[in-house]
Amino acid sequence: MPCSVQRHQLRHQWQLKFAVSAPCSYLIYITEHQIQFKLEPEPEPEPEPEPEPERNPMLFDSFSVPSLHLSNRTVMSPMTRNRAVVANTPNAMMAEYYAQRASAGLIITEGTSPSPNGLGYPRIPGLFNAAQVQGWKSVTDAVHAKGGKIFIQLMHTGRVSNVVSLPPGAEVVGPVSDICPGEVYTDVNGMQPYSLPRAMAALDIATAVEEYAQSARLAIEAGFDGVELHAANGYLIEQFLNANVNTRTDDFGGSINGRNRFALEVVRATVAAIGAERVGIRLSPYGVFNSTGTYPDQEAQYLAFTQALSEMKILYLHVLDHAAMGAPPVPAAFKTSLRNAFKGVFILAGGFDLASAETALAENRADLIAFGRPFISNPDLVERMRTGKPLTEPDQTTFYVPGATGYTDYPSFATT
Ligand SMILES: Cc1cc2nc3c(=O)[nH]c(=O)nc-3n(C[C@H](O)[C@H](O)[C@H](O)COP(=O)(O)O)c2cc1C
Repeated sequence: MPCSVQRHQLRHQWQLKFAVSAPCSYLIYITEHQIQFKLEPEPEPEPEPEPEPERNPMLFDSFSVPSLHLSNRTVMSPMTRNRAVVANTPNAMMAEYYAQRASAGLIITEGTSPSPNGLGYPRIPGLFNAAQVQGWKSVTDAVHAKGGKIFIQLMHTGRVSNVVSLPPGAEVVGPVSDICPGEVYTDVNGMQPYSLPRAMAALDIATAVEEYAQSARLAIEAGFDGVELHAANGYLIEQFLNANVNTRTDDFGGSINGRNRFALEVVRATVAAIGAERVGIRLSPYGVFNSTGTYPDQEAQYLAFTQALSEMKILYLHVLDHAAMGAPPVPAAFKTSLRNAFKGVFILAGGFDLASAETALAENRADLIAFGRPFISNPDLVERMRTGKPLTEPDQTTFYVPGATGYTDYPSFATT
């Protein structure tokens, strides 16, 4: 019966252990006075460790595609801050602001005009001359020195503009000569009606397309990791996309293909200038900002547009839902259709917090999640979310005013 015997001498007793084939063994205790038999069950074998379940990518995981490595999956949304006080040129304070936020996986800068004609708000930066290249270089250097990645958002305001904000010689242009309803802030005269745009002729369109491409080249010269084309929120590219604004009847309007044409020409020219792997685009279907709004063909049009973008193999598609700011929500099914139609990196933005961002990533609804307002008042947003620290609320009264207050003076948690 026994197949092995172990012998241990305890202080006043001998212990002989007979291993048997059953999962138990006999213990025989021999002491000076007695011999005892005891049946002792073998300890249960340790269970094999479960293999780690495959985890969905989460917000603090790194993210890599061949052209870009991000230390985490948060994106700082593009946000206009109106601090380019001298000649629409980035300055040292802007470099400090972006460097403070360099722990975002990817920073996308505030909307920046590729043309003097696109500077429709006071103190927004441009990127079309040598001084602006130098100014932006100080920003990209500061962000890169802290290990961050940064794209510039190219935003041409088009008809969302008042002429007094433009530099001398520039003019307000748009797809048609219809004034944008409402008023816009100017430094010179306070709130003013929008200026009447001049409808862009074929030559103006070709010029604008080349301005985007040239600005993208300058962006690379200034050290950016890439460029985001702003095709959202009712600025020039969306003015062409949106059927409520673009009532042209020529090749740049009148149909899905016609309305998509200007945007696709801008993308094509930008891709030719700097390479598809460095180009992203931002869209806001269902948006109402700057008097856009939805229309019957909108989903079909945006799907056709997205398919074309996918074929051009641009780096990312950034879809914005302003429901958290009071706009109609973008239907979830439509966001899924856009994600499925686009083979590159997919970013979702609008109203996210840590929990909803993690859920969106876990459900594979996006690759990266963009946060806007939380980054204004929490320069260390990523660390705060990672360690469960409370977030500071932003002060809306300082969003668009010059100066450091409400801009570079939000402390990180460690120093509060
Ligand atoms: C002060 C401010 C400025 C903004 N400027 C821009 C801009 O220049 N370009 C843009 O695409 N979106 C702009 N947005 C929209 C944000 O990028 C973002 O989509 C929006 O704030 C919703 O995201 P959130 O809920 O995370 O803040 C701005 C938003 C704010 C609050």
